[in-house]
Amino acid sequence: MTTVRQVTLSFSDGVSTSLQVQPGESVLDAAIAAEIPLLHQCRSGSCSSCMARLVDGQANMRAGASSTLMRSEYEAGDRLLCLAEPETDCTFQLAYEHDAGSVKATKAHAFVDSVEKVAPDVVKLVLELAEDAWLDFRPGQFVQVRVPGTDATRSYSPASTSADLPRIELLIRLLDDGVMSNWLRNVAKPDDVIELEGPFGSFFLREKRPVPHIMIAGGTGLAPILSMIDSIRRQSGRKSSVLLSFGCATPEQLFCLDDIELRQQLMPQLASRISVDRGATGSLLSGNPVAAITADDLNHPDAVAYLCGPPRMIEAATEKLSQLGMKRENIFAEQFLPSN
Ligand code: FES
Repeated sequence: MTTVRQVTLSFSDGVSTSLQVQPGESVLDAAIAAEIPLLHQCRSGSCSSCMARLVDGQANMRAGASSTLMRSEYEAGDRLLCLAEPETDCTFQLAYEHDAGSVKATKAHAFVDSVEKVAPDVVKLVLELAEDAWLDFRPGQFVQVRVPGTDATRSYSPASTSADLPRIELLIRLLDDGVMSNWLRNVAKPDDVIELEGPFGSFFLREKRPVPHIMIAGGTGLAPILSMIDSIRRQSGRKSSVLLSFGCATPEQLFCLDDIELRQQLMPQLASRISVDRGATGSLLSGNPVAAITADDLNHPDAVAYLCGPPRMIEAATEKLSQLGMKRENIFAEQFLPSN
């Protein structure tokens, strides 16, 4: 027998709303039909934008569907609402305010300002929005970029902030044979036109918490973290202290160290630890950016963490921070997955 389920959505600002979900329908599809603005993008389990925490009842992920949801996240109660099908009446906690999803993604054109290789496998692409275009985002959210001359799109989180608009700075990992990587290597030049769409994603700075922030970044996962740090730097009033732990495989692959140092000069409450898996010298730590975090760093009961990097790093960081006593609901993460 099939049954309509009653689902309650509970937002971080205390607002709750209920909706009915039909058998075989995802919570996200039901919410869209009911015009409840939830953050989402791909609607197919691949972007993590629609993540929510199941706090009451049972809901499974659609059978046979692949998704970016990690086992540890599923076991902790996380679900991707675009694939979540309630088995019972249930309640989901959303880690954002009830109106965060009402900002609609828009399309915009931008011009290439510069293309700079900042590491053997990382390019800094600086764009400038066209005069009649606008595209806003929260620090940590991502935009989709269409690779010129193709139908392929790729998702990148700006390293810049909305205060820097119309300038948008992206850090892009070069893959051996990626469609964007090949365009950047062989074609991209100043004044090329590029199409963007955004903002997307539920990984963004929760700006109202003046509590210690631990930020862990692997590789180009540094981009949204830099955006968040700049946003904190620009906040008025008492600012959060920030510990940035950033790592790459080797010293040669590190990038943006000058940017980090500059921010530390501008922001005394920012501390950084830079790690490499191999070949550490001088002030570099040996190991990964998760290992660089110790129990002494978690000295506040309401400390928050923002994690961005490869799935294995996110898993390890979430487990370690939880073991060290950080509340699971204070850990926000975004996986960076290479796409070919
Ligand atoms: S909307 Fe992308 S994973 Fe659900």
